Amino acid sequence: MRIISVCNQKGGCGKTTTVINVAAGLAKLGQRVLVVDLDSQCNATTGLGIDTSEIEKSVFELLVEPKKTNLEDVILETQYENLHIAPASIELSEFESRMAGEIGRENRLKKALLPLHSLYDFIILDTPPSLGLLSVNALNAANEVQIALQAHPFAFDGLNLLLETISLIKEELNPKLKITGLVVTMFDSRTKLSREIVDKVMNIELLSNCVFKTCIRQNVKLAEAVKARKSVLTYDPSCTGAEDYLSLSKEICLQNISQITPDVTANKNIETTVE
Ligand SMILES: Nc1ncnc2c1ncn2[C@@H]1O[C@H](COP(=O)(O)OP(=O)(O)O)[C@@H](O)[C@H]1O
Ligand SMILES: [Mg+2]
Repeated sequence: MRIISVCNQKGGCGKTTTVINVAAGLAKLGQRVLVVDLDSQCNATTGLGIDTSEIEKSVFELLVEPKKTNLEDVILETQYENLHIAPASIELSEFESRMAGEIGRENRLKKALLPLHSLYDFIILDTPPSLGLLSVNALNAANEVQIALQAHPFAFDGLNLLLETISLIKEELNPKLKITGLVVTMFDSRTKLSREIVDKVMNIELLSNCVFKTCIRQNVKLAEAVKARKSVLTYDPSCTGAEDYLSLSKEICLQNISQITPDVTANKNIETTVE
């Protein structure tokens, strides 16, 4: 069983699109998958076809009132076989203030997921655009981090902070945590910049051995699929977005995690500019 937290505190870099479509891809490959939506914007929840007005209990209740909340009341089936979701809700935006002063507040998600370990092959965590308490819960509950990096001039801004946070969580809370993937998203093969981003990331010692071969190309069908509340694999199975996410799902499925040993405690500063 693998618990993967898809991270990058930058908004709009393709995390949720990656979570939705990798989850659908893995489910299509026969894996039992649970998506946990930790973002109060609920994009993974709605993107997988769930109507937020029909949610009775969300991840919020699971984290804030664990004793009063049954997992069965939170987890929903989706339109896809093998793919379930623990939906988010807008209340998650209050999680941090509600948890102020609570002992063990970083452990809430880890504890909530414990009974699920035998039920799924993959639990994939979609994280909000900040490194606050919800992201800390995600990194503490996960055994793997996969980073979504947009092929964009500012792609590397904030990457040092993310790596430092991962390193700190590993030291203080979750020694088993490993960076097992980095996926370049919104790749445009026509631009020099996209290729430079990939080259640059391949030169970062800490990350070079976990960069996925598959880059996710820019494809408007990916945005359309989210609006249509479907995975791109069913929205338009022949588009490049579907091809890329299926290819990425296969790579993730076949990864030999024990061979990846990135030293997340090495805090080498990464230059944040791309010429
Ligand atoms: N490969 C891509 N090609 C085109 N648009 C994309 C691609 N990946 C994501 N998008 C769009 O970019 C926006 C941000 O993506 P999203 O996955 O929501 O990012 P995040 O979860 O990191 O905030 C969304 O509108 C999404 O539809
Ligand atoms: Mg998102």
